[in-house]
Amino acid sequence: MNDGQRLTAGLPRVRLAHLPTPLEPAPRLSAQAGGAPVWFKREDLSGLALGGNKARQLEFLMADAQARGAQAVVTTAAVQSNFCRACAAAGAMLGMHVGLLLRGTGTEELQGNYLLDSLFGAEMRFIDTRDPYDPAIAPALERFVADLRARGLRTQVLHLPGATGTLGAAAMVDTGEEMARQFAEHAIAPQAVFLAAGSGLTVAGVALAFKALGLSTRVVGISVQRPAGFMLPLIVERANAAAELLGLSVRLQAADIDIDDRHLGDGYGQVSAAGLQAMRLAGRTQGIVLDPVYTGKAMAGMLAQLREGRFAGGAPVVFLHSGGAPGLFAQAAQCGVPA
Ligand SMILES: Cc1ncc(COP(=O)(O)O)c(C=O)c1O
Repeated sequence: MNDGQRLTAGLPRVRLAHLPTPLEPAPRLSAQAGGAPVWFKREDLSGLALGGNKARQLEFLMADAQARGAQAVVTTAAVQSNFCRACAAAGAMLGMHVGLLLRGTGTEELQGNYLLDSLFGAEMRFIDTRDPYDPAIAPALERFVADLRARGLRTQVLHLPGATGTLGAAAMVDTGEEMARQFAEHAIAPQAVFLAAGSGLTVAGVALAFKALGLSTRVVGISVQRPAGFMLPLIVERANAAAELLGLSVRLQAADIDIDDRHLGDGYGQVSAAGLQAMRLAGRTQGIVLDPVYTGKAMAGMLAQLREGRFAGGAPVVFLHSGGAPGLFAQAAQCGVPA
């Protein structure tokens, strides 16, 4: 397939990631999971400063910012945000200034993504809240932008899941399209793809791609932040705004996707017992690094559904490994129980 045929062909894009990421079977994990054979989509190997699902997304977001003449971008997320770390790295690669408004106090241990942000030269400010939807964030972001503009930098805001949500979801269509191509190459017809849902933009993009390409593979988002009742309408809205942006005629409906919110544990960023168990299983059967915030909980969600017998039978299920390894090192004390 050449670029002209891709669903995202109409969008500006700059190369930052190592793509395509591998799609590979996980036989030893499958044997322990006791359900359908499990394959991994290795978005954790997407390159860009330790990889993850955000690398591919930033190819579109940074290209869009450049097309608008930006010399700087400002974004906001948690202090251990993988997106912020990948954005800081992308800015370094492209020679763009990156401002990060991090949810935190600035007194956190300099570890994981926060450590990398500082190494990549991002300008960091802090906002003392845990809530990504806190109304104080938008004005703080505006002040940051105004300050950079006052310094003479043409500045663009990247706000996920806010105003940049449509483009962010459209970018993730490329993840789904790449998977569909790889399913055909491997001659597999997976029953389901499991993945962590934070903002839900990856679920939105992957599900939209599958629907546009006529795949019946179910997309199952394991929510790590918000209840399903909050996530579902947001995902559908973002997917359909992305469909419009891409000129696709299909539209996503809530019934097309599953959001499983039974694995939130004590909330976003908090290590859960089931997540930790899932991290150990992936590590001990496949040598794969999962993280406590996203992929550990997503794996716990997938394993629970396999145990419930939801996806029995011969066709595989796919775990979309969305990265997040740096965050593990910021929570070493909670994760590193010797056994
Ligand atoms: C490692 C990792 N996995 C999954 C996600 C969730 O992706 P989305 O925000 O598109 O739902 C994120 C988002 O920050 C992430 O960093």
